[in-house]
Order: sequence, then C-alpha cells, then structure tokens
Amino acid sequence: EWSSQPEVTAAHPPKNAAGDGDRRPISTVLIIIAMQTEALPLVNKFHLSEDIDGSLFPKGVPWVRYHGIYKELHINLVWTGKDSILVEFSKFGCVLAGVDSIGTISASLVSYASIQALKPDLIINAGTAGGFKAKGACVADVYLVSNVAFHDRRIPIHVIFFCVNYLYGIGARQTFSTPNLIDELNLKVGKLSTGDSLDMSPQDEVLILANDAVVKDMEGAAVAYVADLLSVPAIFIKAVTNTVDGQKSIAEEFLQNLIAVCTTLAQTVSQVVDFISGKCLSEL
Ligand code: ADE
Repeated sequence: EWSSQPEVTAAHPPKNAAGDGDRRPISTVLIIIAMQTEALPLVNKFHLSEDIDGSLFPKGVPWVRYHGIYKELHINLVWTGKDSILVEFSKFGCVLAGVDSIGTISASLVSYASIQALKPDLIINAGTAGGFKAKGACVADVYLVSNVAFHDRRIPIHVIFFCVNYLYGIGARQTFSTPNLIDELNLKVGKLSTGDSLDMSPQDEVLILANDAVVKDMEGAAVAYVADLLSVPAIFIKAVTNTVDGQKSIAEEFLQNLIAVCTTLAQTVSQVVDFISGKCLSEL
C-alpha cells in the first residue's frame, strides 16, 4: 500500500548553507521553461534576445536560450524547444510536426547543460500546473513551491524496515527557502508533485496525495534533482491552468486557460525577478 508509507517530505535536506556566494548580489539567473506559450510572455517582458549562434548547447538539440540584462541581472531563459515528430498519414504521406519537449527527460537534460554552461546563481523553474481544488487550488493561482517529489517512480523494494528504493523513487526535496520573497509578494505556498503524464491515473492520485501536493506538473522534481546534484539553489513558480480533482476534463480545461494563465505566470515571475534584483541569496 503506497498510501501507508511513512511521510517523506525532506528525504533530501535543503542546501541553504550561508556560503560566501550567499552574501554577494545575485548576478546570473537561469529560468527553465518547457512550453513556448509559457516562455514567450517572459521573453517579451524582459526584452530577451534569442541566442542564434547556438554555441551553448550541442548541435542538433532543440533547446533555445534567450538572454539579456534586466535590472542588472543576467537573465537566461532556456526553453526545452520543439521535438520533431513524424506523423504518418496512411494514404497522404507524412508531415513533420513540432511539439513542446515537456516532461522530466528534457527538463533534466536542459537543466544539466544550462547549469554547466552558465553557472547560474539561482534557478527559477516556471510553468503551468494542475491543482487540487480540495486543497484550495483554483485556476490562475500561482504557487511558490516549498517541496517537490515524484509520483510515478514506484520502486516497491523494502529491505526489512528500510525503504530506501521507495525514497529514491519519490525523490522528495525541499526547495530553496525564500521567506522574504513569499512575504513581500504574498504568494501562495504549497507542495508540488511531478510525473510524466498530464492526466492522472488512480495510482498517480494516491501517490500525489501521499506527497501532500497541492499542484502537479511534469518537470519540477526533475529540475530540483539536477539543481541539487550541482548545488545550485532553485525555486519553482507554478500557475494553475486546470484542476485535477473536479468534473472537468483536464486536457480541455488546460487548453482553455493556457494563454491567460501564462500571462499571469509571467507577471508573477517578473515580480519575483524584480524582488531578486540587487539582493543576495540569503536575503530571499
Ligand atoms: N500542467 C498543467 N496542467 C497539468 C496537469 N494536470 N498535470 C501535469 N502538468 C500540468
């Protein structure tokens, strides 16, 4: 029974140690985004330009970097780009379609490559999410995430009293703590659960609720894993496009609200960046 597992909220303790880096102003910010619709309002807001020589990433990957200086911060927005899918029509031939590279694989790869290349002081993973009405989430709410975990990595191997495989699968982490940012912007705070599906199977639901999540997405815990590996503080801003525990179809509600909610997401991310400007990590 997954729901009867011990509560695991911080299997990986946060790395908020006050090193020297915490006392100088934040200079380079890396914003990681999975969908073009989520990225473009921010590219416009920060007047970022696309990196056309593409030298940052290996040749052939779809990842796109936009960059610029905004309020003395070096802003890098990396979008995972479009995956090329060959669609075959039996009689009429083929078309090449581009779809956003959403999900944990692209998010991990792009996080790793971007951190290696840019050495950011702070990562912001921004995107849309599904929300639980029963836990107070409404469409257009924007959450600052306190904890992340996975809900679709089930490894039920228990050795006597220890369930280390289970804990590895869940991958629970606290995010970088930002009490002043939360107070200043009056943000909703909640836990996030990540999986590679937009819909929600009954088993997903059990595990998301065991993770105590208010919102679910398809990238957050993967970005957190890589950020932790490479010791870069990361925060997560998730805007609710749809509820997942109501009567409405998740996909329909998601598509209906996507554009409007991405505008709201961009407003919040820009407020967060305004707050960060001129501050050091320990002041967040
Ligand atoms: N992003 C927006 N809605 C979502 C959902 N229901 N599940 C995962 N990611 C989402």
